Amino acid sequence: MSSNYHPIGVFDSGYGGLTVLKEIVSTLPQYDFVYLGDNARTPYGTRSFNVVYEYTLEAVRKLFDMGCHLIILACNTASAKALRNIQQLDLPKIAPDRRVLGVIRPSVEEASEITRNGHVGVLGTNGTVSSESYPVELEKWSDGKVKLTTQQACPMWVPIVENNKMGTEGADYFIKNDLQELFKKDAEIDSLILGCTHYPLLIESIRKFMPKSDVQIIEQGKIVASKLADYLQRHPEIEQVCSKESSINYFTTEQANLFDARAKHFMGQEVKVRHLHF
Ligand code: DGL
Repeated sequence: MSSNYHPIGVFDSGYGGLTVLKEIVSTLPQYDFVYLGDNARTPYGTRSFNVVYEYTLEAVRKLFDMGCHLIILACNTASAKALRNIQQLDLPKIAPDRRVLGVIRPSVEEASEITRNGHVGVLGTNGTVSSESYPVELEKWSDGKVKLTTQQACPMWVPIVENNKMGTEGADYFIKNDLQELFKKDAEIDSLILGCTHYPLLIESIRKFMPKSDVQIIEQGKIVASKLADYLQRHPEIEQVCSKESSINYFTTEQANLFDARAKHFMGQEVKVRHLHF
């Protein structure tokens, strides 16, 4: 690859980050992108803090080796468990002029803006929920607007997506159940963060089983894309390094042929992935 190739890296434990990549590419089509899915080790949501940190740092290093100066962790679990350490401990040592951003802060800003009654719900993996990142960040950034954050872990949802079981009876059972559990804890929720990038792929069932009709659902793709555009404007030192040939390269730690067909479905275009060994 040429020494001028500096794509924006987008990382997820599996396919979920494609929901973010798709929106970023549609907002910022001029840039080069590289997507890395750690499909061989998904899900991250049930793994310990140290393991998620270790896996995410490995992926970040790989993306740096590929020429990325800017990486989006399009994974809430990695954003919750690894981002702070990477930003504060690793970047100053391994790449002080490069940046790694997450998806939690943009979602928190959006929820703070749109909630009418201050009751926010968060659906996420076990890892994201137990990290308490959302309640902590909502309290910190909402200026008192968010009064109550209620979380529900949905451990079956990522495996449903990774195994292509969306829309099945089994999938719907878990989606209905987890939504009911959330609203049992707080019936007044008016804004709901889909705090896992896999979840937009389940949106039809989520809408079908939403116990209330007036809940505003926050999907992260569009929000992260518009915040990234804003970030690039505010950080010309990073923006100028990013190469602009409108290419997308895909990498997976799993078998390439499995990824291609699934990713084509998500991205709406032909995808040619390459296998990457850690
Ligand atoms: N897409 C990841 C997230 O946003 C899924 C994590 C997992 O692999 O469990 O949290």
